[in-house]
Amino acid sequence: MNNIKLVYIVSILLFISCRSENVKHEITTLPTPKKNATIESIMNRRSVRSYKSEQIKQAELDKILECGINAPSAKNLQPWAIRVIQSEDMINKLNIDYINYTQNNSSATSTHTSDYNILFGAPTFILIAGDTNNAYAQNDCGMLAQNMLLAAESMDIGTCVLGGIVRFINGPQGNDFRAKLDLPDNYQLFIGIVMGYKNEYPSAKPRENTKIKIIS
Ligand SMILES: Cc1cc2nc3c(=O)[nH]c(=O)nc-3n(C[C@H](O)[C@H](O)[C@H](O)COP(=O)(O)O)c2cc1C
Repeated sequence: MNNIKLVYIVSILLFISCRSENVKHEITTLPTPKKNATIESIMNRRSVRSYKSEQIKQAELDKILECGINAPSAKNLQPWAIRVIQSEDMINKLNIDYINYTQNNSSATSTHTSDYNILFGAPTFILIAGDTNNAYAQNDCGMLAQNMLLAAESMDIGTCVLGGIVRFINGPQGNDFRAKLDLPDNYQLFIGIVMGYKNEYPSAKPRENTKIKIIS
């Protein structure tokens, strides 16, 4: 009787394992045995597009920057430069210049009205530039940026990566602004991040599980 039971169980297991080879990989949700702060920060981080005007605390900013530069980089060359802008004058001027540019330039991807706020009201704007002579600089800067996004999220500080404004600053119209950043000549801006206390808690946008394929 016991042998029959064993044969029955083994056959079922064999059947399941054969079938699973042909089944497309799906993400399984493992039961989390204990609270995992890193996974919570990754899953809770969302692009925040509405901020409180209150500035983030210096100690919080310092921790976020420290986490940024602890990112990996090829050969530990750290081919990045970080610029933190908290000057209201600089941010307002950039906003006005950007809006004027979108209104008067046909090559601008969108046109913004004078009440548009490029930083969504965030009081801190962080720019990440990379060494254009380093083949891995863009990868390294991306890792640095993600470290900062997650460190900020772990303190319930909102962030949003901005691509459009970085392209604007890198162009000829951004010369005056770029000059104030004191970057080496061979450095180019890659990433902009707005940062501040959240005024909204957006829900997650859908993700494509089919982007993942386990090659066996
Ligand atoms: C390189 C890059 C550029 C982005 N540029 C902008 C931007 O110019 N404006 C904006 O509102 N969001 C921008 N985003 C944010 C994305 O829209 C956002 O990450 C995406 O929709 C997924 O949403 P989530 O961050 O809430 O998960 C950018 C994100 C990345 C990574």
